[in-house]
Amino acid sequence: MQILVTGGAGFIGSNFVHHLVANTDAYVTVLDKLTYASSEASLRGLPEDRVRLVVGDIADAAVVEPLVAESDAVVHYAAESHNDNSLSDPAPFVQTNIVGTFVLLEAVRRHDVRFHHVSTDEVYGDLDLDDLKRFTEDTPYQPSSPYSASKAGSDHLVRAWVRSFGVRATISNCSNNYGPWQHVEKFIPRQITEVIEGRRPRVYGDGLNVRDWIHTDDHSSAVWAILSHGRIGETYLIGADGEKSNVDVVRAILRHFGRPEDDIEWVTDRAGHDRRYAIESGKLRSELGWEPKYQDFDKGLAATIAWYQENAAWWSPMKHETEAKYAAKGQ
Ligand code: NAD
Ligand code: DAU
Repeated sequence: MQILVTGGAGFIGSNFVHHLVANTDAYVTVLDKLTYASSEASLRGLPEDRVRLVVGDIADAAVVEPLVAESDAVVHYAAESHNDNSLSDPAPFVQTNIVGTFVLLEAVRRHDVRFHHVSTDEVYGDLDLDDLKRFTEDTPYQPSSPYSASKAGSDHLVRAWVRSFGVRATISNCSNNYGPWQHVEKFIPRQITEVIEGRRPRVYGDGLNVRDWIHTDDHSSAVWAILSHGRIGETYLIGADGEKSNVDVVRAILRHFGRPEDDIEWVTDRAGHDRRYAIESGKLRSELGWEPKYQDFDKGLAATIAWYQENAAWWSPMKHETEAKYAAKGQ
C-alpha cells in the first residue's frame, strides 16, 4: 500500500509515519512544505526504501496531482495548527487549511483515492467548566478562532465532497496531543522548556481552562484504525479521557522538577480563549475496538519531559524566537 501523508514532518504527522513503518507494510510519501513548525529530524532513522519526503505545498495542484495519482490513500495532517498565530495573522490558515484541503479533495476525486482528514475537537467551540456534556459526533459546529474556523471549513468541504462527488473519505476530530517533537510554541513543551531554562511557566488568564490530553501515539493508532476499518463518510472523535486544567498540568510539571507549585507567571489571556474541551470517544471504541495505551497522564508527561531534557539541541534553536513573539504580546 502506498500512502501519502501530508504534513508528515510536523508533530503528529511524523508520529503517524513512524507508526506506519513500525506496524504496517505501507510505503509512505510525506508531502510537507517544511514550515517553521516542521522538523526533518523527526523523520530521521526511517528506512529510505519505505519513506520518501517531497517538499511542497498542498495548495499547489501541480505538486499534489501526481503524488495523489500514485497513492492508494491520502492521510491529511498538513495545516497551520497554532491558535495564537491565527489571531496574529489568519491568512495562512485560510490558505493552507481551506484552500489546501480543497486542492487535495479535487485530486482524490479525480483519481478515486481513499482520503482521511485529520481534524480537531475545536470545531465544536467550547464547553462550560461545570457542564456535564462532552463533544460527540453530533455536536453542532461553533468554532471560536481563525484556526478552528479554518479547520471547520475544511471538515465541511470533506463532507460535501463525499456527498456530492462520492469521494471515499473519513474525518477524525481529536483532542489536544502531547509527546515528543511538539513545537515549543505549544503549551506543554513551552512550559517544560521554560522550566528547563530556569524561568517560570506562563499561564494564560486564570489557568482554569480545561484541555482533554491524549498522547500522540494513541492519536496515530486511532487514525490507522479509521483508515483501515472506518466507514466511508463517517466522522470519529478521538480522545483518551484526559481532561485537566492548564494550572494542574503546570503544577505537575513544576512538581516533576522539584519546584514550588505556585511558581507560575500569570500572563495576558488569549483572545476568545475556549474554556473547556472534552471528547466522548465511544463510537471509535465500540465500532473499531480502539483503546488508548497511555492511560496514565503523569507517566506520559514524565516521558515527554525526559524527551525534552534529552533533546535540547533540537528545540533550543527555535526557543528564543518563539519567546520573543510571545513577549511582544505580553504572554
Ligand atoms: P504542526 O504544526 O506540528 O505540523 C503541521 C505540518 O504541516 C508541518 O510539518 C508543516 O510544515 C506542514 N504544512 C503546513 N502548511 C503546509 C502546506 N501548505 N503544505 C504542506 N505542508 C504544510 O501540527 P500538528 O500539531 O502536528 O497537527 C497536525 C494536524 O493535526 C493538523 O491538521 C491539526 O489541525 C490536527 N490536530 C492537531 C492537534 C494537536 O493537539 N496538535 C489535535 C487535533 C488535531
Ligand atoms: O484541541 C485540539 C487542538 O489543541 C489542536 O487542534 C491545535 O492544533 C493545538 O494547538 C491545540 O490547541 P490549543 O489552543 O488547545 O493548544 P495550546 O497548546 O496552544 O494551548 C493549550 C492551553 O494552554 C490553552 O488553554 C491555552 C493555554 N496556554 C497556552 C500557551 C502556549 C497557556 O496557558 N500558556 C501558554 O503559554
